[in-house]
Amino acid sequence: MKCAVVYSSLTGNTYKLARGIYKGIKEIERFINVDDVDFDELKAYDTIIFCYWNARNTVDPDAMKFINSISGKNVFAAGTLGAYPDGKSGTMMKENARKLIEENNNTFIGEFICQGRIDPVKTERRQRMSKEHSHYLNEERLKRHIESRNHPDLNDIAAAIELVKKALTLDED
Ligand SMILES: Cc1cc2nc3c(=O)[nH]c(=O)nc-3n(C[C@H](O)[C@H](O)[C@H](O)COP(=O)(O)O)c2cc1C
Repeated sequence: MKCAVVYSSLTGNTYKLARGIYKGIKEIERFINVDDVDFDELKAYDTIIFCYWNARNTVDPDAMKFINSISGKNVFAAGTLGAYPDGKSGTMMKENARKLIEENNNTFIGEFICQGRIDPVKTERRQRMSKEHSHYLNEERLKRHIESRNHPDLNDIAAAIELVKKALTLDED
């Protein structure tokens, strides 16, 4: 196995998760920003830890472009999102990521998602909206925004590492 992490990140959450996975698994050889991928170099890697963020319930645009450019790889999908991972948005993003991976003749080998910090500026903007607006932050939504500020945390990263190791069948050592 030859494995690389390829990540896309706008505000740093997915970078943090991706970096944690890379640092936590010594068998992963490369850590590559999605904008810097050299597809010739990537030919040598059979396994990709594909790290993306949720944009409107699917894979973010840069990650989407990347995943549509590879085939014949083993791919583990690791994503971050603003919503709770076990909600509708999390379910949809996982389904969409898996579909994109498999559509391009890659083998889906596992997945992990966790919350990522929502910018407080965004939270404040939504708090100022009228109560009738569909994006207005009620108490429950505000709680989720505030909780998101702690993620990805060390527990998220540890859980991701465990799942990636399992997928790479490195968990016995
Ligand atoms: C344009 C845009 C669309 C987003 N859409 C969603 C969404 O549909 N569901 C969700 O849970 N989070 C959504 N988010 C939040 C991001 O997925 C989340 O903050 C993520 O952790 C950002 O990762 P990054 O810090 O690596 O850029 C969106 C963020 C942006 C900027």
